[in-house]
Amino acid sequence: RGSRLALVEQLVVDVADWPRPGITFKDITPLLASPGGFSAAVTEMVAAAPRDVDVVVGTEARGFLFAAPVALALGAGFVPVRKPGKLPRATLDQAYDLEYGQETLSVHADAVAAGARVLLVDDVLATGGTVLAAADLLGRLGAQVVGVSVVLELGSLPGRQRLEDAGLQVSALVRAD
Ligand code: PRP
Ligand code: MG
Repeated sequence: RGSRLALVEQLVVDVADWPRPGITFKDITPLLASPGGFSAAVTEMVAAAPRDVDVVVGTEARGFLFAAPVALALGAGFVPVRKPGKLPRATLDQAYDLEYGQETLSVHADAVAAGARVLLVDDVLATGGTVLAAADLLGRLGAQVVGVSVVLELGSLPGRQRLEDAGLQVSALVRAD
């Protein structure tokens, strides 16, 4: 287990001053490109998952990459939470704050049954805005968010605290400063 997590950590690469000066971007594309690394990340997310997950929800775009294989491995369904204007049928929408400005996330209004046990999956937990918006949408659908699983959490930002304050159980494979 330790060697799998070390491999995941090695394969998330820091890119200085991207997309803006002063920001260090966490690039997961080397992890995805490594068969052993990608599989290690999914294996560990599955191992950390709560029991009896009915649905795994991934947030567009990078969340999809991990949520879909985790759903398959858990024998759960996959539901996408998307950026606005992408889903063809009736949606629920939730605005959330970015560092500069606002974004919206959408889910099909009939995507998850009331009472379903949902695992929320994303690549990176930074401010927590994305996960909290997705959790709000699922709450409005009557679903029960039984866990949040991310590859990487940024310890310098209050994402984990905000999620825990909202009553969410958070699992991160790797923590970075
Ligand atoms: C990134 C990342 C997470 C989110 C984390 O997504 O994939 O979803 O930011 O930040 P937060 O905790 O502050 O919300 P982004 O919206 O950049 O888009 P992408 O997944 O489509 O690349
Ligand atoms: Mg994202």
